[in-house]
Amino acid sequence: MDDKEPIVLYRRCLSDVKFQIAQNDELEDEVNKNSHSSAKILELTVDNDVIHGIYEGGLKTWECSLDLVEYLSIKSKEINFSGKKILELGCGSALPGIYLLSTQHSICVDFQDYNEHVLKLVTMPNVLINTVLRPQSDDIYEIDIVEEINCLNQLKNSRFFKGDWNGLTNLLNLHSNQEKYDIILSSETIYNLNSIPKLYNVIKHALKYPNGVAYIAAKTIYFGVGGGILSFCQLIEQDHIFEVNVVYTKAAHVRREILKLSFL
Ligand SMILES: C[S@@+](CC[C@H](N)C(=O)[O-])C[C@H]1O[C@@H](n2cnc3c(N)ncnc32)[C@H](O)[C@@H]1O
Repeated sequence: MDDKEPIVLYRRCLSDVKFQIAQNDELEDEVNKNSHSSAKILELTVDNDVIHGIYEGGLKTWECSLDLVEYLSIKSKEINFSGKKILELGCGSALPGIYLLSTQHSICVDFQDYNEHVLKLVTMPNVLINTVLRPQSDDIYEIDIVEEINCLNQLKNSRFFKGDWNGLTNLLNLHSNQEKYDIILSSETIYNLNSIPKLYNVIKHALKYPNGVAYIAAKTIYFGVGGGILSFCQLIEQDHIFEVNVVYTKAAHVRREILKLSFL
């Protein structure tokens, strides 16, 4: 029998987002008849998972992010995350970062996504509904205000970065090794061959030397776009900065893996 405790995380569904966008749009329309920016993003999600350079898929939750949550939950029994500084790149619904934020004490988790809409409509609400706004139970109870304040204080440390990985290293403002990240997480972000070097560059500059580690969850291959585990590993091996190990695999129609990058 499987005696693993179930992991309970809350997330906004695409339908919640569509509902909010539809409501906002009615309001926007009253103020400005030409304003359809939210609706445009909504339209894009109907037929496309990703539109390169416009919408990179962050409104929905991708399979590998659930693998990464599962892996982190196993690892949290042996790794002490306390006091760690964590960055989730290409976070979208951000379940891996949120899992750590909501289960570990005294950690700081920053989030990055390509689209501002994704951060505001999905990432931030998901952070809130898994922390300060997390439903407790149906029982009668008193809300522990001290616990809520502790939670809010921890959240105040989180930062949300919007934009392309190209400019991210400057924005992160990491002047000393101490300011860099102990752990970088990323799921389903190595599908595009053109973007892989940009993502790798952020990891290389933002990870704390010598003990920082990055966990990258991805499919072995992304058919039709060319990226995947193989192309990413080739880049790492050529650069001779990190060693890379496969720490998790999931057999599926397209195999899924988690890579661990650590400094050589
Ligand atoms: C397929 S979604 C995955 C979302 C989420 N990590 C998950 O697994 O559910 C890819 C994510 O990568 C990010 N992304 C892709 N290309 C990017 C780029 N060039 N610069 C910054 N972020 C990018 C987007 O933010 C997007 O949310």
